[in-house]
Amino acid sequence: MATSKLLSSLFLQLTFLLFVLNLANAQGGLKVGFYAKSCPEAEDIVKKVIFQTISTTPSLAAPLLRMHFHDCFVRGCEGSILLNSSTNQAEKDAIPNLSLRGFQIIDKAKSALEKACPGVVSCADVLAITARDVVSAINGAHWNVETGRRDGSVSNITEALMNLLPPTANITILKAGFALKGLSAKDLVVLSGGHTIGTSHCTAFSNRLYNFTGKGDTDPTLDPNYIARLKLKCKPNDQNTLVEMDPGSFKTFDQTYFTLVTKRRGLFQSDAALLDDSETKAYVQSHAAAVGKSSFFKDFGVSMVNMGRIGVLTGNAGEIRKVCSKIN
Ligand code: HEM
Repeated sequence: MATSKLLSSLFLQLTFLLFVLNLANAQGGLKVGFYAKSCPEAEDIVKKVIFQTISTTPSLAAPLLRMHFHDCFVRGCEGSILLNSSTNQAEKDAIPNLSLRGFQIIDKAKSALEKACPGVVSCADVLAITARDVVSAINGAHWNVETGRRDGSVSNITEALMNLLPPTANITILKAGFALKGLSAKDLVVLSGGHTIGTSHCTAFSNRLYNFTGKGDTDPTLDPNYIARLKLKCKPNDQNTLVEMDPGSFKTFDQTYFTLVTKRRGLFQSDAALLDDSETKAYVQSHAAAVGKSSFFKDFGVSMVNMGRIGVLTGNAGEIRKVCSKIN
């Protein structure tokens, strides 16, 4: 009798342990402070490089935040955006990635890490830590970044084209695209708030100004006064001009993006589309109406952590690249 009680108690404990292990596994093997023992200085090393960079070149904050997003949406957050291809067939060669900038800053952080702890910190984690640090360097949101990712070895131009959502995407495509990566409608809205900083080429939205349905018309969902202003900046077929996405505060990480969207001044169709669904519209409105930026900041951190978990390689999978642009 006593033996069977002991056995069933052991069984219960084992089940509980498996449950807990399973939960840990559900985080994809990532954790805050993954390098605490193996490279205690890791996060400080990246932070130093990023804060120095942003203090002299604040305009690099936006593309470096976007780089982590573009890494995560193609094959997961495993650093494949950083790989070079001798035949220009890597992710970074795909049109949506041609406007990414700041690869040299990732290389700088990685070289510093390799000096301190050779072969320990992955390029995928450098991207995740960098995304966190660029936002905090411009006094934006702050979150505890999970680490423990390893690097992938495949980078393919077609996969980038297939997985990165176009600025013309409607709400159905956007929600489905995020759901495919395990992200919610709320994550979609909150992360779109990343457009509070940075600039866009005219090409990403000029159809809304000049040829919306192929009849030389404008997008009726875009504020006509804003269209007039944008037309002054972007002439038809302008490939080069950059436009602030959050005019007047494009260097400041704040919740004004949501106010813009509610005023029908979101720059892309994908921004405007957030008003076309009751769930996403409610999130946009609540952030626009919020007093202060703290609820957006908190949500942004949570959604960035969610995004950082997409398709990660952990444990023995993948590798720790020595140089982020080439496999070992
Ligand atoms: C929801 C789907 C999204 C679409 C369709 C989209 C599309 C775009 C496009 C077309 C640009 C302009 C690129 C250029 O012409 O230079 C851009 C810029 C940017 N995006 Fe997104 N984006 C999306 C989501 C996100 C997310 C999730 C983040 C980060 C959390 C993000 C952060 C940024 C930033 C910071 C810029 C400015 C980059 C710079 O100044 O160089 N975007 N996005």
